[in-house]
Amino acid sequence: MIYLDNAATSFPKPQSVYDEILNCMKNYAANPGRSSHDMAIKAEMKIMETREEISNLFNISNPLSVIFTSNATESLNIAIKGLDKKGAHFISTTIEHNSVLRPLNSISRKGGEVTLLGVNKEGYIDIKSLKKYIKKNTRAIIVNHASNVLGTIQNIKEIGSITKEEGIIFIVDASQSAGVIPIDVVRDNIDILAFPGHKGLFGPQGTGGIYIKEGIDIKSYTEGGTGSQSNLISQPKFLPDRFESGTRNTPGIVGLCEGIKFIKKIGINNIRKHESMLVEYLIEELEKMPQVTIYGGNNYKDRAAVVSINIDGVDSADVGYLLNEKGIAVRTGYHCAPLIHPIIRTVNKGTVRISPGYFNTIEDIDELIKTLIEIAKKD
Ligand code: ALA
Repeated sequence: MIYLDNAATSFPKPQSVYDEILNCMKNYAANPGRSSHDMAIKAEMKIMETREEISNLFNISNPLSVIFTSNATESLNIAIKGLDKKGAHFISTTIEHNSVLRPLNSISRKGGEVTLLGVNKEGYIDIKSLKKYIKKNTRAIIVNHASNVLGTIQNIKEIGSITKEEGIIFIVDASQSAGVIPIDVVRDNIDILAFPGHKGLFGPQGTGGIYIKEGIDIKSYTEGGTGSQSNLISQPKFLPDRFESGTRNTPGIVGLCEGIKFIKKIGINNIRKHESMLVEYLIEELEKMPQVTIYGGNNYKDRAAVVSINIDGVDSADVGYLLNEKGIAVRTGYHCAPLIHPIIRTVNKGTVRISPGYFNTIEDIDELIKTLIEIAKKD
């Protein structure tokens, strides 16, 4: 299979990820942070090592501010629902994924105040107008760093400087950028960073995390056993225990650790360079096909490795089906981001999303283009 669905989850993973997951399962998958025997201590130490690797990648000074979750959706729910309180106002955008839009919709249905900023058809928000929407009760702004539909990369540094100036909590959804585009929570003034482990960070599914800057008070999400303050029935207040109840996904987290080490070994800029080269070539080839509409901006250097298209007269789901028949994996439809479709005029049709990753080659793109040409001819 030629796998071009890395925006959904990356595949394959580096060999070291598979090896360490198996090693953990076979040799040290005890319950971390609970018992005091050697296996449990080793499991806890590996989890701590992963926190350190993540901190290092995002320039987080205290690894204990990194909390493991099962995916970016859980992280975003922790942040948004945990910050909600009576009278709070949230700002976000119409290019967000449902992992942001649905929690915000719940808040708004309960009478909370939510403002969604529009984006242009290339997916960019108008940062200059942002201040206009900030009110006295604005609690947080949530921004998708890189779009899972258009690949649009927002200027989080510029947004972060505004939120800092205005004293608003800045939440970044790094679902499509973590591990591929450099993120620095200090430089970018990020207060809360939600990231998946299983996409650009090369961990397995069921891994993700959230960074919460010290001093930000968020309600606990799930409560239960943490292995700390076990003589009390109240949830510990300190991080990460406040948000890490129940047995953690040790095999997944140690796999994630290896994924991040792989990124360090290759270099995030080299990963980005490789993906950008594939995207540039892909777009160049797609532009030669008159039947193809490419969505998003044409500043290809400012795009994550996500390219949405349609072929005139062929339903996006049919394109996905036909590609699959030829052994090519893409995603079709709305990509869980419903509000961007009226803007790019793909309501009722969705898009065919091609998302190459570090392990793809030019030959993979050639094969895709060859098959798309055949599909377009059939119409
Ligand atoms: N959010 C993931 C995607 O865009 C699953 O496909």
